[in-house]
Amino acid sequence: MFIGEAPGADEDAQGEPFVGRAGKLLNDIIAACGWQRSDLYICNILRCRPPGNRNPTSEEATNCREYLDGQIRVVDPDYIVCWGTVAAHNLLDETTSIGKMRQKWFKYGRAKVLCTYHPSYLLRNPPAKKPVWEDMKYLLAEMGLKPAK
Ligand code: URA
Repeated sequence: MFIGEAPGADEDAQGEPFVGRAGKLLNDIIAACGWQRSDLYICNILRCRPPGNRNPTSEEATNCREYLDGQIRVVDPDYIVCWGTVAAHNLLDETTSIGKMRQKWFKYGRAKVLCTYHPSYLLRNPPAKKPVWEDMKYLLAEMGLKPAK
């Protein structure tokens, strides 16, 4: 299960998570891992796009939490990847920087949770693709899988 932040304009228009520029990059990461989108359940902390694309408030995240927890209950994932600070901090009730949360396992219910940088951050800062790929390899190794590329 992949958890992002909130729908952007493209996601709002199409009613699907991660279909804009960040989603295209996420698709590349998914393919490099040897997966298809249909192998994953992809969702967000928030159900709606915050005005002006600002970061979600904690009240907004709390309002959407029942829905998110419902998704997690139904999917019952073995693994969750939190993409970016908003996902990592809200899901896990953490305040540590995302850089310090990488490359270690957290637990949410019975799921093992890995945190990494958000694909939008990678678009703004391409050198961060390298640590994200390290994180994906860390995940694949834990799952007993090998990357496709
Ligand atoms: N960014 C997110 O965090 N989620 C989306 O669905 C799209 C962009």
